Amino acid sequence: MEMKTLIAQIVDAAVRTAYPGVDAGINYEALLEVPPDSKLGDFAFPCFKLSKALRMGPPMIAQKLAAAIDRPEVCTAQPVNGYLNFFLNRGNFAKDTLQKVMAAPERWGSGNEGEGKTVVLDYSSINIAKRFHIGHLSTTMIGNSLCRIYGFLGWHTVSVNHLGDWGTQFGKMICAYKKWGNKEEVEKGGVDAMTALYVRFHEEAEKNPELENEGRAWFKKIEDGDPEALEIFNWFKDVTLKDASRVYDKLGVQFDYYTGESFYHDKTDRVVNELKEKGLLTESDGAQVVDLSDDNMPPCLILKSDGTTIYATRDLAAIFYRKDTFHFDKCLYVVAYQQDLHFRQVFRVVEKMGYPWAKDQLVHVAFGMVSYEGQSLSTRKGHVLYLDELLDRAVEKALAIIEEKSPNLENKEEVARQVGVGAVIYSDLQNSRIKDIDFWWDRALNFDGDTGPYVQYTYTRCCSVMRKAGEVTAQPDYNALLDDEAQLVLRLLARFPEDVRAACRTNEPFMITRATTDLAKAYNKYYYEHRILDGEPGEIAARVQLTDAVRQVIKTGLYLIGMEAPERM
Ligand code: ARG
Repeated sequence: MEMKTLIAQIVDAAVRTAYPGVDAGINYEALLEVPPDSKLGDFAFPCFKLSKALRMGPPMIAQKLAAAIDRPEVCTAQPVNGYLNFFLNRGNFAKDTLQKVMAAPERWGSGNEGEGKTVVLDYSSINIAKRFHIGHLSTTMIGNSLCRIYGFLGWHTVSVNHLGDWGTQFGKMICAYKKWGNKEEVEKGGVDAMTALYVRFHEEAEKNPELENEGRAWFKKIEDGDPEALEIFNWFKDVTLKDASRVYDKLGVQFDYYTGESFYHDKTDRVVNELKEKGLLTESDGAQVVDLSDDNMPPCLILKSDGTTIYATRDLAAIFYRKDTFHFDKCLYVVAYQQDLHFRQVFRVVEKMGYPWAKDQLVHVAFGMVSYEGQSLSTRKGHVLYLDELLDRAVEKALAIIEEKSPNLENKEEVARQVGVGAVIYSDLQNSRIKDIDFWWDRALNFDGDTGPYVQYTYTRCCSVMRKAGEVTAQPDYNALLDDEAQLVLRLLARFPEDVRAACRTNEPFMITRATTDLAKAYNKYYYEHRILDGEPGEIAARVQLTDAVRQVIKTGLYLIGMEAPERM
């Protein structure tokens, strides 16, 4: 438990003892302060609010509360004017915390509260025949991180790449391929070659509008399951996924399923029929829609006037398929903020169909936009920045820095990959997901400050201390950890499990990024101000144990946001 919470409980108990029957309705934890100088205590509780409720002077209350507190194993309390100052039993706190962490260091912060529950995570969800650009980074990395966080808390996770693989554009692409394409070009050029075909189609269609009909006819063939159309279409998909898997490999991201929109194409009838039966479909300009005016939303389009389904229809089909197949307790959609209305409409339609679980089980995990060195991606002229290029460049730059800083490092390439890719991931998961991100090289690859390399570097520092310490056999003397710097490290270690839970509750990976960065900073401060391997064996043992705990928890934190932890760099 976080120390602050424990102290608040002690205050609460003291109030009950000193003033039985009084319920002041006060949140003690929110009132607890951290004095500017630790000589005044580790925490201070101001008695002014209580004084109003009890109609008594604050100094008097502070004295009575102090007298009611008898928890020497946790803290002592001293009344000073209207304040109750708490001095932690720092030795006990150190011992307690480190023993708990070291009992199962890799599992510190994990839990089983998710046991028996399933979460479906829909993320990355790329579009066929389009290349990954850096706009896809957030959905991919937030989704990957959430998958790890939920898993760490015992949930059964199902990760789904809901591919954008349905729509008339694929008919046009096949049409273009049949007319002007060839196999080798597409095999070699991958997604770029397919894009080129698509562009060509539009150029030619300007001159020859008849092509549009041919394109539509090819899409109809896909819909009807024509073998030739399906063969080309599936091959396009394979080529796209082969390109994408290079990026996924670099990022260390995997999926359980690649079931995209086309997978639901023959599963939409059930939804449409049920909507009809329940009287929810109305006609509007020949199209079938669900009216959502009571919810202040535009109608949700279900069938176009030609009877074909849309993105939303397939998302509805996917929801029921996932519910029936995985029996999820939660289904998360890690998709850009721009699709906010789409998801609100779709979720509301499910609720209107009589499924109350839609309200809290279906969650749109929205995020802001990514821009690159001050330029937004949509307005960027000329060359679009692709994710694999960004990653390659990050690795190159990391390699250059490593060559300069540690020319004798053995596996430079490998470390450069971990650091370069890590820097990109870190900058993506550094702030609340809804904030827009502006990616700058200088910032991302800086070894000081809030960056991926900085946290990784702290990890290697811990590893290096552990190597130098060798085998430690002495019993730790926790009185070596009474100083403010060690205590701050300990507090951050102690609260890490709560940070993990908060990240899960709010679907905010940055909470882990922040917790891990704070821990790294606190440890570095400790490292600069204390000589870890000097002194009595028991003192050394305690400081080494602190280092070991930090090492493990940083590694866990990095893992949870999807980063690797090199042991040297
Ligand atoms: N492919 C879509 C896009 O790039 C994202 C799909 C998100 N998932 C979903 N179930 N709608 O915009």
